[in-house]
Amino acid sequence: MSERSCLAIVLAAGEGTRMRSARPKVLHEVGGRSLLAHVLGAVRAAGSSSTAVVIGPDVEAVAIEAKRVLPDAGIFVQSERRGTAHAMLAAGPAIARGFDDILVIYGDTPLIRPETLSRMRAALAKGAALAVLGFRPQDPAGYGRLVLDGGDLVAIREEVEASAAERAITLCNGGLMAFAGADALAILQQIGSHNRKGEFYLTDAVAIVRAMKLKAVVIETEEDDVRGINTKTQLAETEAVLQQRLRQAAMDAGVTLIAPETVFLSADTKLGRDVVVEPFVVFGPGVTVDDNAVIHSFCHFIHSHIGKGASVGPFARLRPGAQLGENVHIGNFVEIKASVIEAGAKANHLAYIGDTRLGAGSNFGAGAIVCNYDGEAKYRTDIGKGAFIGSNSSLVAPVTIGDGAYVATGSVITHDVPPDGLAIARERQVVKENRASRLRALKGAGKKKAAE
Ligand code: UD1
Ligand code: CA
Repeated sequence: MSERSCLAIVLAAGEGTRMRSARPKVLHEVGGRSLLAHVLGAVRAAGSSSTAVVIGPDVEAVAIEAKRVLPDAGIFVQSERRGTAHAMLAAGPAIARGFDDILVIYGDTPLIRPETLSRMRAALAKGAALAVLGFRPQDPAGYGRLVLDGGDLVAIREEVEASAAERAITLCNGGLMAFAGADALAILQQIGSHNRKGEFYLTDAVAIVRAMKLKAVVIETEEDDVRGINTKTQLAETEAVLQQRLRQAAMDAGVTLIAPETVFLSADTKLGRDVVVEPFVVFGPGVTVDDNAVIHSFCHFIHSHIGKGASVGPFARLRPGAQLGENVHIGNFVEIKASVIEAGAKANHLAYIGDTRLGAGSNFGAGAIVCNYDGEAKYRTDIGKGAFIGSNSSLVAPVTIGDGAYVATGSVITHDVPPDGLAIARERQVVKENRASRLRALKGAGKKKAAE
């Protein structure tokens, strides 16, 4: 099928008013990725050679997101919302360039699988002029019904136009269509707006195809494939379905999820073989974990990398740019941002490491932090191999700690420490013998006086 050229038209001009949001509907996210990006990813995976995105007027943000995901996507503006066929015609100049297959997809159905799109294209390759995606929803309210006659698709009836008998039909329109490119414009130009809403319905294409003595077929799929999002509730339901798919894929690839229902993944999360993820972990976008790493409970990661055999958490937070090497140990209440933690280094308890290189085999002590921000700018810290940063130290950036250097506990380091240097930057301890009892006596006398 790959020799057939394919144009995918994504309709994203919906206002999404039922989302009650300042954000355009297709820019809402599931699995850490916009609805539009999911759809564009699916059409690319199904082998479309060209993509057109139809957006509403004044939604620059949607065009920017489309270009970010697919830089060569064509952007077309539907200046007035006059129906799905009218929206498709907004991409008329792209259709006129001539393609074998034309897929029309709604921008708010992020779970559509590339396999499903490929099945629709296969129907065109077999001679159909139109393939419609059908499904049997649990609740058919609101969907167009697929009217069949002896197995042949004869029409799609929108619910508002349907007779009682037609409303009883359980096979519904998933909203996705594939047109033979040679016939698409001729079909579209015959669609009128003689219906209750006065809109140009794409669904009328079926009856027109029949009248042209061409073939229209139904490809059936499951509800999850075509779940459309109109409300925040449907957004959450779709997220739940996607999470199940992502967890299943991770386990199929050899990841151990002890309590899969408590682990949240992003669409781009990459987990290696024999990675173990304990309960209650959140993987934000852009996270990769290499083989055999162990992620303990209650961690939160975003745009980070975890090396082979590393151990992270419980309660660790990796922010953008955290790069952990092989066998690194990151323990509880440790936060890392924009830092490279080299192989075998450890930060096991209560630490903040930002804009830093922590050299191989180093130890970053309990309660130690890097002071990378002075209220105006960020500065870097470089810690060499095998260094030891004592507990509760503060490294005031910019600062360099040489290979094998040793920072004494509780130091505030403001100057570079050379390789193998020992830095002690704290008040010297004073001990006064036999003075504890005197101190207590003095305090006791003070209290008595106050009580009088
Ligand atoms: C549509 C189908 C219905 C199907 C259902 C599946 C039509 C006429 N009806 O109904 O048969 O069962 O989807 O979910 O196609 N859009 C535009 N410009 C417009 C109108 C719509 O870009 O002028 C876009 C919307 O952003 C949306 C998509 O087209 O992504 C579908 O439009 P919507 O109004 O949600 O159609 P439904 O009533 O849900
Ligand atoms: Ca809809």
